[in-house]
Amino acid sequence: MGTRISGTGIYVPKTVLTNRDLERMVDTSDEWITTRTGIKERRIAKEETVINMAIRASEEAIRNAGLVPEDIDLVLVATLTPEKRFPSTGCLIQSKLGVGKGFAFDITAACSGFIYALDVADALIKSGKVERVLIVGVEKLSEIVDWEDRSTCVLFGDGAGAVVVENSDTESDLIASRMYSDGDLWDLLYAENGGYIRMRGRELFKVAIRNMEEVCREVMEEAGVSPEDIDLVIPHQANIRIIRSLAERLGLPMSRFFVNIERYGNTSAASIPIALHEAIKEGRIDRGDLVLLTAMGGGLTWGATLIRF
Ligand code: UT7
Repeated sequence: MGTRISGTGIYVPKTVLTNRDLERMVDTSDEWITTRTGIKERRIAKEETVINMAIRASEEAIRNAGLVPEDIDLVLVATLTPEKRFPSTGCLIQSKLGVGKGFAFDITAACSGFIYALDVADALIKSGKVERVLIVGVEKLSEIVDWEDRSTCVLFGDGAGAVVVENSDTESDLIASRMYSDGDLWDLLYAENGGYIRMRGRELFKVAIRNMEEVCREVMEEAGVSPEDIDLVIPHQANIRIIRSLAERLGLPMSRFFVNIERYGNTSAASIPIALHEAIKEGRIDRGDLVLLTAMGGGLTWGATLIRF
């Protein structure tokens, strides 16, 4: 039994916050943000909520998979910004979509949340427990950003990405994956209950590059492929300089990396599913392509997944 990716969808808020707008809010410049991070603008949820962004993305993913909500038997949500302490965002989405059966839960793994969710869904599908999983990465980070802290407020954005994965009796699209965490490093990136995002950026930067390179090499080794075999890498969009370093370390040109950080900034758990959807829509992924997803975030958490489309 294998796991197949059958549909993707996204929703990004209407309001665009540019670097120029931020220049009027904190002591920063478009030049600093662009050269140090690669970000030009990000989306901010004003009228949108976590749930309605998730619903829009999910409806598109389910439609693209050729399914209806009633076909889903697990709603798995990766988010740092749930609307309620409980019930889970997954349960709220399950209800609002009208799934009507199965179960739902949330995963808290910060920017690696989507990679974790994909791996958990894959395991549950391959064990025969579920058949069709809706995975949603959704964030309203603008609510936990300290808009007076220039070292973090320029980095983050809001949005949602959804993916439907299903069991298949032919080959698996998901061919290798790894999840890791190191709780000893939790204070490099965190938010207290009711508090703002706090980050030790420079330290995190180095760990992010090292860990993502290692985990990417591990999944490639498990699948018996080398970096040159990878058609497209879809990395978590945290900093263009992290992505460039990863490309250099893996010996791959930037043309094999999907980048949309300039438009959305870091959307945490939503970053990879949004990028995956856009890569498919832009024709960057052909049938049979090898696609490598990798992320690193608060926890610390990190991981990678290798997909044969
Ligand atoms: O999503 C999870 C994974 N996330 C990450 O891995 C993020 C990793 N870290 C980073 O991406 C980078 O460390 C940042 C983008 C957060 C910061 O870039 P940096 O090149 O590491 O800058 P820095 O923190 O070393 O700061 C350099 C200077 C400082 O000034 P001094 O001390 O040299 O005078 C900062 O105060 O830049 C200053 N600075 C700013 N200046 C203008 C910090 N933020 C800003 C700003 N505008 N927004």
